[in-house]
Amino acid sequence: MSAQTTPDTGATTETRIERLTAASLRRIIEPEVEVTGSVGSGMVLPKELLSVADLNLDLTDEQWTALSREELASILDAGVRFESVLMAGFGLILAWQKDLVDPRVTYVLHEIGEETRHSRLFVRVIEQLSPKAVNPFTRGIYSRIDRFITSRAITHKALFCVLVLTGEEVPDLIQKRSSEHPDTDPYVREVNRYHRMEESRHLAFARALLPEVWNEASVLERLVIRHLGPAIMTGVFDSLIHPGVYRAVGLPGWRTWNNVRKTPARRDLRTESFRPVCDALRTAGAFGVSGRLPRAWREFGQLNLSRAD
Ligand SMILES: [Fe+2]
Ligand SMILES: [Fe+2]
Repeated sequence: MSAQTTPDTGATTETRIERLTAASLRRIIEPEVEVTGSVGSGMVLPKELLSVADLNLDLTDEQWTALSREELASILDAGVRFESVLMAGFGLILAWQKDLVDPRVTYVLHEIGEETRHSRLFVRVIEQLSPKAVNPFTRGIYSRIDRFITSRAITHKALFCVLVLTGEEVPDLIQKRSSEHPDTDPYVREVNRYHRMEESRHLAFARALLPEVWNEASVLERLVIRHLGPAIMTGVFDSLIHPGVYRAVGLPGWRTWNNVRKTPARRDLRTESFRPVCDALRTAGAFGVSGRLPRAWREFGQLNLSRAD
């Protein structure tokens, strides 16, 4: 990690990261103390925010309720696993860092601290939701593919940074939409508000880091990001709600999962959440001076359409 000036503000990366550290120190939230409470017994997410919204399914009230709870539990479960991968990747970066006296190191330690608190809260909400679904992605061949890709991605800083941005942008957009909907369970809204507040700093850190890790990336790593990045990110996106969720409420698991992936609402959600990642890569210089996007990124790279919080 080396000193760079960020093109948007003129501030050095170090200055921006020191500001993030100061913000983390100003407000340390222990979820067991400040985000106490429990989800209600009914629907926790409104129908229009569920993954099957576009499929015109004819379900009973009990099935809708169960589906909303299973979907939320699946997203939170994926969130805990993602935060664990993030902590593993950052942990290795720190372990292999030449000089520990660096604002990045201090901020990473803050970020890991915040993620452990998020994960503890997510596990508590999962327990309250009592999901029944079995996640096929944590078993057999899917688990082996996941381990193969993840263990390589976390040791390649630029690819890791892109995955961190993806794993934070996608849940952030989902949580933003559910926070803003009046029919979302009030406690879920509170959990989302708390999480998004701290994630906004994590996103700023990953964006600040991306230009320098891109500069250090090998030719092969750059090729992977330019041409396979969106495919890997789509894998992350599609694993948030796994096929077992649908099976748990009496729907055909894999068939429903496949149909969901192709619906306009899911495509729009994916495009909107990947767009800021594309913008961050463009700012980091990943697409050259011309900024011309490789074919794999074109769908996500429309200018001036980035999400404003
Ligand atoms: Fe988090
Ligand atoms: Fe985070």
